[in-house]
Amino acid sequence: MPFDSKTQRKIMGRFATGIAVVTTDGPAGPHGLTANALASLSLDPPLIMVAIDKKAASLEYLRRNRCFAVNILALDQEPLSRRFATPGPKEFGDLDCTTSQTGAPILAGCLGFVDCRVVEILPGGDHEIFIGEILAGAEHDGFPLLYFAGGYRRLADPHE
Ligand SMILES: Cc1cc2nc3c(=O)[nH]c(=O)nc-3n(C[C@H](O)[C@H](O)[C@H](O)COP(=O)(O)O)c2cc1C
Repeated sequence: MPFDSKTQRKIMGRFATGIAVVTTDGPAGPHGLTANALASLSLDPPLIMVAIDKKAASLEYLRRNRCFAVNILALDQEPLSRRFATPGPKEFGDLDCTTSQTGAPILAGCLGFVDCRVVEILPGGDHEIFIGEILAGAEHDGFPLLYFAGGYRRLADPHE
């Protein structure tokens, strides 16, 4: 019998993560989703991976656009996280965005980004694993938005 998915969620929810908005643009148009199933995969070559639910609309956008940017959210960007975690069309018109190498939107105010071209798409159960080669990136000072045990969190401030 397969391991219970609710139990898996609860256990892995104890693995605290940052949160990113993964964006893309190209022939399919702009789109994005909130994601934390991502990891820095390789330094040489520079690779990053993100797991996308097969049911997410983003899957087709990423497949067709063959590029994505990982925008690492800052503490004050919880509204952005909620917005990109809501299924349906994603509006970028009111957002402060730039582009770098691939044309994927780079969101202002983030703690950092990497801009990637998709080099491989691997099966991963009910997800697909997108491996991106990092073409450009930058990091900025600030505090991260975190996710732990099903809720948004912040780093404990030693001065509080
Ligand atoms: C904190 C958090 C992390 C998430 N991580 C992922 C993820 O890594 N992969 C994924 O496919 N969905 C993830 N989701 C869910 C998607 O953001 C959500 O299903 C979104 O509506 C998908 O949008 P789309 O259908 O337009 O692609 C996450 C949601 C939250 C709130």
